[in-house]
Amino acid sequence: MAVTEKLNKKEIISNKHTNYRNFPMVPRVVFGRRSFSQLGEVLMPKRRNSDAPFIFLADDFFENTDLPSQIPLMFDDEIIFISANEEPKTEQVDALVARIKENFAELPSGIIGIGGGTLLDLAKAVAIMSTNSGPSHNYQGWDLVKKPALYHVGIPTISGTGAEVSRTTVLMGPDKKLGINSDYTTYDQVILDPDLTKTVPTEQWFYTGMDCFIHCIESLNGTYLNAFSKSYGEKALELCNEVFLEDIPEEESRDKLMMASWHGGMSIAYSQVGIAHAMSYGLSYLLGVKHGLGNCLVFQHLEKFYPDGVELFNKMIHKHQITLPKGICSNLTENDFDLMIKVAMRMEPLWENALGKDWKNKITPDCLREIYMKI
Ligand SMILES: [Fe+2]
Repeated sequence: MAVTEKLNKKEIISNKHTNYRNFPMVPRVVFGRRSFSQLGEVLMPKRRNSDAPFIFLADDFFENTDLPSQIPLMFDDEIIFISANEEPKTEQVDALVARIKENFAELPSGIIGIGGGTLLDLAKAVAIMSTNSGPSHNYQGWDLVKKPALYHVGIPTISGTGAEVSRTTVLMGPDKKLGINSDYTTYDQVILDPDLTKTVPTEQWFYTGMDCFIHCIESLNGTYLNAFSKSYGEKALELCNEVFLEDIPEEESRDKLMMASWHGGMSIAYSQVGIAHAMSYGLSYLLGVKHGLGNCLVFQHLEKFYPDGVELFNKMIHKHQITLPKGICSNLTENDFDLMIKVAMRMEPLWENALGKDWKNKITPDCLREIYMKI
């Protein structure tokens, strides 16, 4: 018997009780400039019948642009425009599901999210809650969803959040900001058309791009790192460096940031984010600070934890002449700080990824307060 055969047998025996994650990926993806025009042919085979519409949830930023005219509507299909000014909420998801069920006799053929992280997360949640009984806040957590979601398609119009690949949909609930993490959350189909990101305002482009950059830094410097998340994280970081530190043509930059977002999302899907995300959750919960900006506000003060990452971040801020808002926490009360600290410290896997299993010995509420006070 060959030696390798013996070795393989040994490996199989020693791996008998492993518990690696069996994580879902987006099964179908179209990538390319102007690929949005393929949406009609992508959806056609998924249309159950003329009474089962497609519901398009689109960022209201596009309401008065030519984008709606490019959406391939048929029969009773409906576009619902939604503001992305605030982070998505569980009550918003429940209201959308109720509205859809009230308006249509049949369940829709599918839900299509068109927008940034907010719209992409909303569409995932509406697809889940169309087939699972509510309210949606009952599903905030890990693997609480019982039934497969409706067919759902994600079409990002801004790059960075990784919401197009993740198995979560982060929602603000009545008592917590937490994702519906499940195998049913992941999109069935994604369309990546970099041309859709042409109209993103510079600051939003930067903050959302930095969300991706911070995904890479937190994943690559985390204790959960493994070959899978490392390979995606390194590629995403390389792309972020090209986009934010080099001078490349705009079209190429849009292509690359869209790929960076995808790879950054894949990297954290198989590992975890870290300190900036944990603390950004606190800012968002108390003050409604949007995810990308919140991450930047925290990350600038994390040189102790991510020295190389913060150095790169500062170069990026400088190159793009971004001025981060100041004094966000200057008028907060002791109770406010306590609440933010509580929300942040509740994100246990994020801290464990960042600092190891004994993270509680390495970080204290006072350390967090000190960082928040600088913001
Ligand atoms: Fe993020």
